[in-house]
Amino acid sequence: MEKLIIKGGNALHGIVPISGAKNAALPLMCTPLLTPDPVTLENLPRLADINTLNDLLNHLGVSITIRGGKGGATGRREGRRMTFDGSEITNTVAPYDIVRKMRASILVLGPLVARFGDATVSMPGGCAIGNRPIDLHLKALEAIGADIELKDGYVRATAPHGLTGGTVRFPIASVGATENILMAASLAKGTVNIENPAREPEIIDLANCLNSMGARIVGAGTEFITIEGVPRLYGCTHSVMPDRVEAGSYAVAAIMTGGDLLLEGANAHDMGAMLGVLEETGGIINEEKACASHKGGVRVKSNGHRKGFDLVTQPFPGFPTDMQAQFMALAVVADGASVITEAIFENRFMHVPELCRLGADITVNGASATVRGVNALKGAPVMATDLRASMSLALAGLVAEGETHINRLYHLDRGYEGLEGKLRAVGADVERVPA
Ligand code: EPZ
Repeated sequence: MEKLIIKGGNALHGIVPISGAKNAALPLMCTPLLTPDPVTLENLPRLADINTLNDLLNHLGVSITIRGGKGGATGRREGRRMTFDGSEITNTVAPYDIVRKMRASILVLGPLVARFGDATVSMPGGCAIGNRPIDLHLKALEAIGADIELKDGYVRATAPHGLTGGTVRFPIASVGATENILMAASLAKGTVNIENPAREPEIIDLANCLNSMGARIVGAGTEFITIEGVPRLYGCTHSVMPDRVEAGSYAVAAIMTGGDLLLEGANAHDMGAMLGVLEETGGIINEEKACASHKGGVRVKSNGHRKGFDLVTQPFPGFPTDMQAQFMALAVVADGASVITEAIFENRFMHVPELCRLGADITVNGASATVRGVNALKGAPVMATDLRASMSLALAGLVAEGETHINRLYHLDRGYEGLEGKLRAVGADVERVPA
């Protein structure tokens, strides 16, 4: 076990290289299940979740060749390049002991049933932020001809004569269910229409990759998607989009510490809603073109103020739930009060009691938290409970007086590549030590 020790008070200045997006990489890594040809993904982040999914793909019979990216001590390494060969898949069962580690494992269900007509995946179960059902995934697959059976904690999808065309109507936008059906429908015998799909940038990245494999997907990123199924998909090489949540987390760090950061490789359009709130609180945001010292990206500079704000989490293009905890850390040290409403998950305020241990003034009332800004936080030992909550605590530690010790770092390592190296490179006093 390890922990982070952060000594707060330093303003952060410089360049933060943004890694490939975890939430784009995970569905992209399932596309090799759809074809016997090799699929190469570039700009993959070095994260625990990527390794967990590699373990599952290996278990299914996918062989994986990994080539690291170039790079040095500053943390400005290129992403990893991996080639996945799904020509020898021997097994279409994803077991509980792997799936329980990472909910996104459910994304192998659609590709496996589409290509092999039979797939069995352990039910992922809930996690810290909610019970995370998969009913929308299963109803969508049934709408295009899959038979679904639930038994002994596993879900089995079968389509002995292949998946068919059909219409999928989502009552609520679901990122994972949209991704599962996009992959499955690519090999359906007919046309699949999706009404009310998720519109996140990660969906567009997946559709672009599938289309480069020979799929025929139109409308990704809009409220209506049409997929013309094809008999076979082919290999491709695809580069993973930049991680908008990692970028947003460092953007918050720039405002909280009164600093000025260039988020290298970040895409301002993908970050729209969060940048809007940052400007409201006092951030100066500019898109910068590539130059001799960096590849271009989004520059976030504090204007010395941190005004309170209100926000409600929504599906894209609304404010992303994955940034709620990080913005709460900003609200904690902002001038005035902020009201933050979590409208996507039922239990995503686990960071509140830990932030209060640092001196925050937060009152939770159902799905809303009222945060009254305080002048100073005091460092203390705190416990990470889930991925984004742990980043919220690290952000608070950057401005707290004294030392903040963050335990259970395995949460952070699931979604933030080289966090301490990237923070140290822009002036933070942070180190990772045995707990
Ligand atoms: C993806 O999770 C992300 N994970 C999450 O990021 C993100 O918070 C979430 O989308 C929302 O943007 C990955 O991409 C790997 P959903 P996913 O299906 O697909 C309900 C992070 O921190 N729902 O869009 O699981 C669900 O309970 C992680 O990086 C059903 O009711 O989210 C939730 O309330 C956390 N039935 C809402 O829909 C279903 O079948 C949105 O969930 C599926 C979902």
